[in-house]
Amino acid sequence: MANFNTVAGCVLASALFAMVVGKVSNAVVHPHMLEKPAIAVADAAPTETAAAAPAAELAPIGPKLAGANVEAGKAIYMKQCFVCHTIDKGGANKVGPNQWNVVGRKKGSGEGFSYSSALTAKGGEWSYEDINHMIFKPQAFIKGTKMAFAGLPKEQDRADVIAYLRTMNDSPPPLP
Ligand code: HEC
Repeated sequence: MANFNTVAGCVLASALFAMVVGKVSNAVVHPHMLEKPAIAVADAAPTETAAAAPAAELAPIGPKLAGANVEAGKAIYMKQCFVCHTIDKGGANKVGPNQWNVVGRKKGSGEGFSYSSALTAKGGEWSYEDINHMIFKPQAFIKGTKMAFAGLPKEQDRADVIAYLRTMNDSPPPLP
């Protein structure tokens, strides 16, 4: 009898313990379940950022051109681009093609210059926006281009250079 009582007592104690543990773990688990929506939002965030990244990387340069500084652009050009390009009318090709009239010109159409097939395959004309991409990161814009140039990371520098390129042209396209 005494044995039965002890056993019964143990069973009862275990059952009570299990109930208490159950309640406690419920209480512990419950707040985590409330956090679920927050975790779902955090999961979605990186996907959105990744999708938005390429567009956010380069804002359109068109609106910045009217207020750009042609003289500053010329100075940057002479320091950074002139090593490989001439820009006077009828100037020679160097490592890169002569750039008189380059704004609005068909891609890869500079006379007497042997372009990479990557650049010729790109197609279309050198719009202000395409030049912006090209001088930001040539390899990102045209994978395999021969233009071995690190790029101009500052938007103001690119706007100034493009505004300068625009002045070295028989009939530049209108500013956007
Ligand atoms: C290290 C040499 C080098 C430097 C520096 C350089 N370029 Fe180039 N660039 C090239 C070469 C080479 C090509 C031809 C690329 C090809 O065929 O893939 C080219 C092509 C271009 C084109 C396309 C021209 C066309 O006729 O289709 C533009 C626009 C251009 N460069 C602008 C610039 C500007 C602006 C700078 C300065 C911010 C610059 N480049 C700096 C070597 C250079």
